[in-house]
Amino acid sequence: MLLSISGVHKSYGSKKVLHDVHMHVKKGEIHGLVGKNGAGKSTLVKIISGVVSDYEGDIIFDNVNINHLSVFERQNKGIYVVPQHATVIPEFSVAENIFLGTWPSNKIGKVDWQAIHAKTNAVMQEFDLQFDPRTKAKDLSLVNQRKLNIVRALFSQAKLIILDEPTTSLSAEERSSLFEFVIKHRQRGTSFIFISHYLEEVMNLCQAITVIRDGKSFTGYTKENVSVEKLSNLIVGEEVQLCYRQDQDRPQDEKFILKCDQICGPGMKGISLGLRRGEILGIVGFPGSGSREMCRALAGLNSIESGTIHLNGRVIDPPAHPSDAIWQNIIYVSYDRHKEGIVDLLTIKDNISLSILKTKLRKSFGMIDQGYERKNADRMFSKLNIKAHSIFESVGHLSGGNQQKVVISKALSCHPEILIIDEPTVGIDVQSREEILSLINELTKMKQLSVIYLTNDYNELLRVSDRLLFFSEGKVFREVMNHGLTTEQVIAIRDGKKEGVPV
Ligand SMILES: Nc1ncnc2c1ncn2[C@@H]1O[C@H](COP(=O)(O)OP(=O)(O)OP(=O)(O)O)[C@@H](O)[C@H]1O
Ligand SMILES: [Mg+2]
Repeated sequence: MLLSISGVHKSYGSKKVLHDVHMHVKKGEIHGLVGKNGAGKSTLVKIISGVVSDYEGDIIFDNVNINHLSVFERQNKGIYVVPQHATVIPEFSVAENIFLGTWPSNKIGKVDWQAIHAKTNAVMQEFDLQFDPRTKAKDLSLVNQRKLNIVRALFSQAKLIILDEPTTSLSAEERSSLFEFVIKHRQRGTSFIFISHYLEEVMNLCQAITVIRDGKSFTGYTKENVSVEKLSNLIVGEEVQLCYRQDQDRPQDEKFILKCDQICGPGMKGISLGLRRGEILGIVGFPGSGSREMCRALAGLNSIESGTIHLNGRVIDPPAHPSDAIWQNIIYVSYDRHKEGIVDLLTIKDNISLSILKTKLRKSFGMIDQGYERKNADRMFSKLNIKAHSIFESVGHLSGGNQQKVVISKALSCHPEILIIDEPTVGIDVQSREEILSLINELTKMKQLSVIYLTNDYNELLRVSDRLLFFSEGKVFREVMNHGLTTEQVIAIRDGKKEGVPV
């Protein structure tokens, strides 16, 4: 056994997070760790890595009790975490990121760049990666940034690499590429703890699975003795109902609420599309295909150089700023909640209120309508089932999935007519994902909301979309009604294949 955790307890103030957690990771094993948002997975990771030191219980690593060791000492022993918000230093090169903190120096005490680049080349070859050591980390794709993180771990002789939700925001192909990478290193004897809300991928990749629920651990699961359905029930503690859009929920011959004609701008080469009232329009496209660019342009985050936008039948000026879009009742939920979604230091209530400060909360003499603010935040808090003590807790203290729910609450508080959501369920647990999908389904059914939905999770996209638009090279190249489409068909259309595709 490489890692044995026994009888771990941890509370934050009066909030009990973990009580009596046990988990055992073998050498060369990929061990899945699953649980609802706020179950305590990241907390357990922090306990293993030593970031959180005030816990009860025992952590045995490589036959030694490491309770008293610091983060640095644990890292030297071979425990390495790729955190939930995986970070490389964007302005640093690949080589600088790999050698971070251990930069070799030459005879006169200066950093030995030649040695660094030569060694990085050797590392790249060993791990089968084709980046130039001089490339800035920010210029790598997301999957390559994650791989760079793992390489950094392997380079520092890690025996156990903990991946906290490493596949969020990756496409299916990028995920497979990351998995191959992980499997290869597992075969060389490295162990992994793999945290994810995508249960299919946990089942495919992991040799053992531990569930955390209500602060307790349930271990001993393998793909032989558990199914995805059983696993999601174990995580939630009850049966999870999947949300499927029914035919009668779809808009019938509704007029277009939004129509775009020949939109051009950075990454967009003449995009035309229409969105019906009450419709959920699914968007499929690789990064750079123009899909995200279009969504961001409609939200006032990318510029539009030419083309026309009709909203409710009249031509509007392209939004030059997000506030212009909000004014038109168009709200965008970004895929990057940390950069564009939440303010860590503010409370849940204050975050939810941010989008309506100048509108619904505005009273005369610059005062804020505190009554409405409180009522709205409370309503969102319970509607989205945000797990926290109260609306007065700082968002920075919330688990990843609960932060995402705050972002969605903030968007819905504006009562938008058009909601553009970009990867809305990233990091959200099985139950909350269904709750969010059902809420969107309900609002569109009542014709209160029309949605443009961008996600790499085609399974989720197909469950709720009425129609799909396929983007490539800055244009829409295909439109398909979603009458029982399969993910295989979506991939085939996206990749321009002819066989097996509906006409
Ligand atoms: N520094 C902190 N202060 C107070 N409470 C905290 C702190 N860090 C985490 N918590 C709380 O501990 C609980 C567990 O959080 P944790 O981040 O471990 O959950 P998680 O299982 O990783 O969830 P997710 O799937 O959403 O990432 C949550 O209720 C969270 O609000
Ligand atoms: Mg977490």
